[in-house]
Amino acid sequence: MSPSHPAIVTVRPSSPLQILQIPTPNPTTNEVKLIVQYTASTPLDHHQASAHLLVTPPQILGDGVAGTVLSTGPDVTRYKLGDQVFGFVWRNAKEKAHQLYCVCPENLLGRVPEGKSMQEAVVLGNNFVTVWHAFTREFGFELPWNRGLDGGAKGKPEGYVPPKREVETEGGRKKWILVWGGSSSCGMYGIQVLRYYGYGNVIAVAGSRHHGTLKRYGAEVCFDYRGEGDVVERVKEFVWKDGGEVAYIFDCIGSLEGSLRPVARIASAEGCKIAVLLPVVVKDAAPGVKPEYEMDVTKCADWAEGVMPSGVRTHFWMDNKVLAETLQTEIMPWALETGVVEPNAQIIVEGETMLERAQSALNMLRDKKVSGGRLVWRVAEQKQVAEALDGIRQ
Ligand SMILES: NC(=O)c1ccc[n+]([C@@H]2O[C@H](COP(=O)([O-])OP(=O)(O)OC[C@H]3O[C@@H](n4cnc5c(N)ncnc54)[C@H](OP(=O)(O)O)[C@@H]3O)[C@@H](O)[C@H]2O)c1
Repeated sequence: MSPSHPAIVTVRPSSPLQILQIPTPNPTTNEVKLIVQYTASTPLDHHQASAHLLVTPPQILGDGVAGTVLSTGPDVTRYKLGDQVFGFVWRNAKEKAHQLYCVCPENLLGRVPEGKSMQEAVVLGNNFVTVWHAFTREFGFELPWNRGLDGGAKGKPEGYVPPKREVETEGGRKKWILVWGGSSSCGMYGIQVLRYYGYGNVIAVAGSRHHGTLKRYGAEVCFDYRGEGDVVERVKEFVWKDGGEVAYIFDCIGSLEGSLRPVARIASAEGCKIAVLLPVVVKDAAPGVKPEYEMDVTKCADWAEGVMPSGVRTHFWMDNKVLAETLQTEIMPWALETGVVEPNAQIIVEGETMLERAQSALNMLRDKKVSGGRLVWRVAEQKQVAEALDGIRQ
């Protein structure tokens, strides 16, 4: 009998998840097979399970993995049996995260840095990549990064500061980067990456209990979207008083009424770039409510003349061939190891079985119980990992 393993699948929209026994592939060419020890459930899992957004059922969920290498294809150069790795994997059934074994190309994985746990590493994947992709592709920020191959240090070139045109207008007024949803996973990584590259011109919109953290991460000023008065007017007044303009907006929420339309009221400067994380949520999923989504951001608001809204789709990040080879393998582990980004707080989801943990995480996402953190849960039990490694070593 060919080997098989359990995977979590969505079968029908808004129905309980199921567990399915699926064939276990062997890694070929540049592929690595790992036993998945931790995964992180994300809003995309919720969109997919509740509305079957871009889903062909039965579909395995999950795109963040951390686990141990069990075997490698003949062309793999970076990893070997027993290495602890993590990454963002999403393209097909054998890669997906919510299953006991994942088989994916080695360039989708990085090594878990010494001194860091798999739980810490697994919360980076999707959203660290999203931030890098959105900033480089939608905003045109360069984010240069030395690989350290010539003996020099890894990281940005020494003394790097962002080009003047990205931080001030021709008239010398301040250009602001607005991160709407600063306490979301994407927002928190975004603010930290901007700080590393020397962007001191960051405004964050987030719940007030996260303002201290976001300032520590590099936001110059924070506004509470639930606070008194219209947050849009408060942001505009601040920017106007300062004599500056909002030149870049990172909408990390993509909620039609909760972020996108407010953001459209702020975006007025000629050439202002607005990167919205898709999908735009038109109507939230709730028990008995069918969610609605929109993928075209230009249709979602009355955008001012001359502003440039775009929808972010991180699933195309590997179009950038340099990043495809370095972002997950080198930059992401380095950022975690060096503290350039602090991993999102891990909210550990408990449950007797992997199905229970997956379902609980999904319910928490649906019920909007995630604030300033990431839902993390165990896939393989420790015993299964030990047995898998023993089986191979014998
Ligand atoms: N297209 C892509 O490539 C891509 C990639 C990654 C993510 N996404 C999408 O981006 C969205 C965010 O993902 P995520 O994982 O970063 O989310 P997340 O961490 O789960 O977001 C939760 C946070 O959202 C904040 N929030 C909720 N409504 C808000 C509002 N109206 N204004 C400001 N903040 C609000 C909450 O803030 P408080 O607790 O402070 O209230 C909470 O901390 C999801 O819809 C996801 O599917 C898309």
